Amino acid sequence: MQATSVRLSAASTGDRASRSQPTAPVHEGSAAGLVERCRALVRPALVEAVGRLHPWTGEMAAYALGWADTTGRPDPGGSEGKGVRQALAVLGAESVGADGSIAVPGAVAVELVHTFSLLHDDIMDGDALRRQRPAVWKAYGTGPAVLAGDALLAQAVGTLAEAGGGHAAAAVRCLSGTLSALVSGQAEDLRFEHRPWSGTGAVGPEEYRSMAARKTGALLGCAIALGAVLGGAPEATVGALDRAGRHLGLAFQAVDDVLGIWGDPAVTGKPVHADLRRGKKTYPVLAALTGGGAAARELEALLGSAPEDAEAAARAATLVEEAGGRSATREEALRQRDLAHRALSAAPLTRAAARELDALFTHVLDRTW
Ligand code: IPE
Ligand code: MG
Ligand code: MG
Repeated sequence: MQATSVRLSAASTGDRASRSQPTAPVHEGSAAGLVERCRALVRPALVEAVGRLHPWTGEMAAYALGWADTTGRPDPGGSEGKGVRQALAVLGAESVGADGSIAVPGAVAVELVHTFSLLHDDIMDGDALRRQRPAVWKAYGTGPAVLAGDALLAQAVGTLAEAGGGHAAAAVRCLSGTLSALVSGQAEDLRFEHRPWSGTGAVGPEEYRSMAARKTGALLGCAIALGAVLGGAPEATVGALDRAGRHLGLAFQAVDDVLGIWGDPAVTGKPVHADLRRGKKTYPVLAALTGGGAAARELEALLGSAPEDAEAAARAATLVEEAGGRSATREEALRQRDLAHRALSAAPLTRAAARELDALFTHVLDRTW
């Protein structure tokens, strides 16, 4: 335990993200600036929560969060991630007139759940790279990575149950519904890999949205909702914020799907074309196939023969773009972002925090990693 606690000192993790983010420098008042403000508010409690884990699972968690390398030493190449979920939780509280610090247990819980879900997701998706480094299952082995994910999940629930004050029961209810949704979304995502691209049994856009709303949208909705719950907001306001977060999640996933095909792995830190090779039913491909035309027909034939080598996957990416899948996905992301904005407008929120939430929503759309 001793070594883990030393490595997890706030000093060794401080300022980590601003050093590792490949995006623009942080400016006061910008969306990146507000993400960093929320990160700084949440970090001490996050460090403390990870420090409560068994030393071994704590070491893997510190690696996953970019705080340490596999020897437990501070890793200059590590990335803490985008910090969107913790920022949503803090802004959720502020938007209902509470102090952002009241959302900290919720912010810690959603960051821990997010980290747990990535550890397990990389195993399910067979992805060996995450945030520019070997995924936890590659660095430590599959069994240990599953266990580290379990530890993070348990710690997330415990943090909320113990620190949620008078709102702990409502907060834990919110999180547990989200966890069920996340698991069922992941189940659909995996099952869709084995569904055909066209004809009987093909996955339609509505089925895709339902899957993505659960695997990704539920946690983003929960993040804002938890902030509002901990801030003592009425149910209707919590519901509106939750809806906004779910739509944001759909926009987020659409962007994620685009980055998985056309993103720069040196920036995204994730493998490129992995989704195409696995037969993942992502929005750009589904949209491309509904477009008709020569590119769509060639794409359908190529996907039918499973484009497993790099050249075939690259050709599939070109055809998806030619058939309009990339632009349709951008439109879908913008549409979901507008729906998120509309859900926000329906709630009685403080002006400044609502503006910051909006800025964060746009930031999510414009991300490159
Ligand atoms: C991840 O979805 C969703 C969860 C972790 C629950 P993806 O598999 O599409 O995300 P990336 O591309 O690996 O980050
Ligand atoms: Mg994945
Ligand atoms: Mg996945």
